[in-house]
Amino acid sequence: MLRPLAIATAALGAVACTSMSTTALASEPAAPAAAQTAAITYTLPDLPYAYDALEGAIDAKTMEIHHGKHHAAYVNNLNAALASEPALAAEPLETLMAKISTLSPAIRNNGGGHYNHSLFWKLMAPAGQGGTPSAELAADIDATFGSMDAFKEAFNKAATGQFGSGWAWLVMTDDGLKITSTPNQDNPLMDVAAVKGAPILAVDVWEHAYYLQYQNRRADYLNSWWDVVNWNEANSLYAAAK
Ligand SMILES: [Fe+2]
Repeated sequence: MLRPLAIATAALGAVACTSMSTTALASEPAAPAAAQTAAITYTLPDLPYAYDALEGAIDAKTMEIHHGKHHAAYVNNLNAALASEPALAAEPLETLMAKISTLSPAIRNNGGGHYNHSLFWKLMAPAGQGGTPSAELAADIDATFGSMDAFKEAFNKAATGQFGSGWAWLVMTDDGLKITSTPNQDNPLMDVAAVKGAPILAVDVWEHAYYLQYQNRRADYLNSWWDVVNWNEANSLYAAAK
């Protein structure tokens, strides 16, 4: 069984913009349902490192534009899309993902964009600081894909094979670890995803993630990306998903 995702709403840069009293007397009438839910305003999370911290794999200008412009736009557009949807605005982002087929393209694209990028930043670390796969995760990867090298090859194949913009993922499903890819800002939490599960690793293969340094050489970007994977974060996600 999949456990709830390890990414807390707070970690996604979500802020409740109204507060509730917890001191109401028992004799008081119950508050209307609408007053018991607080609308969420999403905010751009800080990067957990400097823009130039991933140099060698990803240049500082790409990181600055990617975080400060692209991710910021997803946050702003998500808030705008939810402004006229107060009921949806009170639900955690993960809940919206699970019923995304019923929601607007704006919520799908920008909610996915905010979720995916918030995860992506945490799944990278300066080279040499991201640790190594835990014994448990490494053993599962070996058992599932044959070896770590075979896993990386299959992951890179999914990432290079994603036509146009999208993402590649390692996810924990009810049937174990699987590699998948998604178009645009879709992700494995969405009810529309071909492979659903809890993300363990994710890589952004939109051109905005690599074009300044690598131009059209997505495969070169992916090969360098492994140098800045934050395995410590992946290990935590794996432990939570088990
Ligand atoms: Fe991106």
